[in-house]
Amino acid sequence: MEIETRPSPGAVALVTGAGGGIGARVAARIAEIGCRVICAGRRVERVEAVAASLDGRGLGLYLDVTDQNSVASLGSRLPADWRQVEILVNNAGHDSGGRRPFHEGTAEQWADIIDTNVVGLVRVTRALIGGMRDRNRGHIVNIGSIAGTRPYATGTLYSASKHAVHGFTEALRLDYVDTGIRVTEIMPGMVKTDFAFNRSGDAAQAAQFYSDFGTSLDPDDVARSVVFALQQPAHVVISALTVVPISQR
Ligand SMILES: NC(=O)c1ccc[n+]([C@@H]2O[C@H](COP(=O)([O-])OP(=O)(O)OC[C@H]3O[C@@H](n4cnc5c(N)ncnc54)[C@H](OP(=O)(O)O)[C@@H]3O)[C@@H](O)[C@H]2O)c1
Repeated sequence: MEIETRPSPGAVALVTGAGGGIGARVAARIAEIGCRVICAGRRVERVEAVAASLDGRGLGLYLDVTDQNSVASLGSRLPADWRQVEILVNNAGHDSGGRRPFHEGTAEQWADIIDTNVVGLVRVTRALIGGMRDRNRGHIVNIGSIAGTRPYATGTLYSASKHAVHGFTEALRLDYVDTGIRVTEIMPGMVKTDFAFNRSGDAAQAAQFYSDFGTSLDPDDVARSVVFALQQPAHVVISALTVVPISQR
């Protein structure tokens, strides 16, 4: 069987939520394997700083995945030689107001979790899949979570959102089975990032949360899993990969 080089040399990747945490490490690891990386997110100074650290292979891009105009204009806002996106890593996500009983969350927080983690991910996928179909080449990597198969108390909306990502990702893979488009879900367990801080806005509480948990993954552990999925031979798809810290049950 023919073993193609994957990704193609100099391929363009787009990583959402690339200004920090998992997304920033994913951008760095993808650049290391020779791709050019569009680092997308709402905090422009952060995505530009990450892009600038990629030895000439990065480009910062303002992108709010909850804003249809921001997503729809994505292609036209890119320089011409950055428009053929071969790899999409849907990483943007949050659990605003989470880790509390369901009745304590607000409708705004629930809607924001679903709009970002689910609808946003679908929006960006829809915006880029046309080009992948035209070229019959692409790889979509969705950052789900172990919460996508194992719901937990105090994580109602987040678990619901990641269950949706899980179902969407596998169905998407089946839609493009036997084409040049591959679809992967990476499902991390606990990763130490700004995620806990962004949930509550309380730095001390976030630090205590990770300290109480014990051993967490590093964002780079997730990034290496993404690159592992990207570098498989043409006939192999990593459809779903669960990555947890050694002590996580
Ligand atoms: N940390 C964990 O334990 C863990 C475990 C499993 C899965 N995950 C998943 O991993 C992904 C990354 O999380 P992380 O841990 O790296 O947390 P993080 O450090 O808080 O990063 C989340 C990123 O999402 C971006 N984002 C949020 N809303 C956005 C929007 N509307 N448009 C564009 N970007 C948006 C943020 O960038 P801007 O604010 O600049 O837009 C930020 O860079 C998420 O999907 C999360 O659910 C995390």
